[in-house]
Amino acid sequence: MNINQATLVIIKPDGLKKSLTGNILTRLSEMKLEIAAARVMRVSRELAAEHYRHMQDKPFFEELLKYLMGELHNRKKVLAMVYYGKDAIRKVRLLAGSTNPEEAEPTSIRGAYGRITTNGLYENVIHASENEEEAEREIKLWFKPEEIIFDIYPTEITIRNNVQEKNWLSGIVD
Ligand code: PPS
Repeated sequence: MNINQATLVIIKPDGLKKSLTGNILTRLSEMKLEIAAARVMRVSRELAAEHYRHMQDKPFFEELLKYLMGELHNRKKVLAMVYYGKDAIRKVRLLAGSTNPEEAEPTSIRGAYGRITTNGLYENVIHASENEEEAEREIKLWFKPEEIIFDIYPTEITIRNNVQEKNWLSGIVD
């Protein structure tokens, strides 16, 4: 695919704990994509639950939330980034490898550094958006428009308490 796309990449708490940030950023930089946003941040339960809302019926949902919140690794932070460029979603997912670390190419990030816990949870180091629709939903969930270097999606100006705010158009993440 030859169109420009945005994708959300999250280095999860296990990636930070294992000191993989530099390695992962180097490999991402080889993808010839542009970094459009980056934030080191704590993940609230609400954010984790919304991010993984399609997994809420899974038996491991609670563990999944704890994992993203950093409670399983005593590292209560993640590095969330937006990458932008030609074929960005496919390129980053190829680099990340299959969701299941046991099935991922050994040289991919998840294949090299991921594991499955005894509870059956994938600790797969990195999140990468699955498709354009999910990328838009996730990026709007994790970032405000002004935290991204250019307007990837349409925005609107609203006024709250006499202060102008730039929000994603419609203001609703559905
Ligand atoms: S699906 O329906 O399995 O294709 O779901 P997907 O969109 O790939 O997202 C699944 C996320 O849940 C994490 N996870 C697991 N999935 C399946 N089985 C097990 N045991 C499991 N443990 C964790 C998986 O890593 C996906 O999160 P991300 O952040 O995308 O890796």
